[in-house]
Amino acid sequence: MIKSVEKILNIQIEKESYSSHLYLSMASWAETTGYEGISQWLYVQAEEERLHMLKFIHYVNERGGNSLISAIKTPPAKFKDVLEVFQQVLKHEEFITASINEIVDICNKEKDFTTLNFVQWFVAEQIQEEKSARAIIDKLKLLGKQNLYLLDKDIMAMRAAAEPAATV
Ligand code: FEO
Repeated sequence: MIKSVEKILNIQIEKESYSSHLYLSMASWAETTGYEGISQWLYVQAEEERLHMLKFIHYVNERGGNSLISAIKTPPAKFKDVLEVFQQVLKHEEFITASINEIVDICNKEKDFTTLNFVQWFVAEQIQEEKSARAIIDKLKLLGKQNLYLLDKDIMAMRAAAEPAATV
């Protein structure tokens, strides 16, 4: 495997792992704050991020590289409200989209068309990830606090209606 590609894929493994930790922390906060549906949505999202991490790990190893499993920094544990949570989700997903685009850029420069093909799945996935975070933020902005209880119940239904969950 081309060293520069292996290096950036290992950086992405760490980022996907952090994504999983971040959403786990948000899920736990939501669970203890009374938002059952939002908490479930975030727990499922944390699991998806773990699957993203595994996809990269398996790919690097199958291509003759070595996946590195590194320590992850502690994610934030306290949030002002659910709007802040989803604004942070969106900001983080935009950061991940930029990372995926960097991988595409390196693959093009190195003419690594196999990895370029592999990473296309993530290019498409990021469109969905940003879209679902934006959809929830839009709904939260439209609602008053009294309706937040009903939205919380709807959040998991929104997820079920979206794209099928990622698989390894
Ligand atoms: Fe793995 Fe949400 O990007």
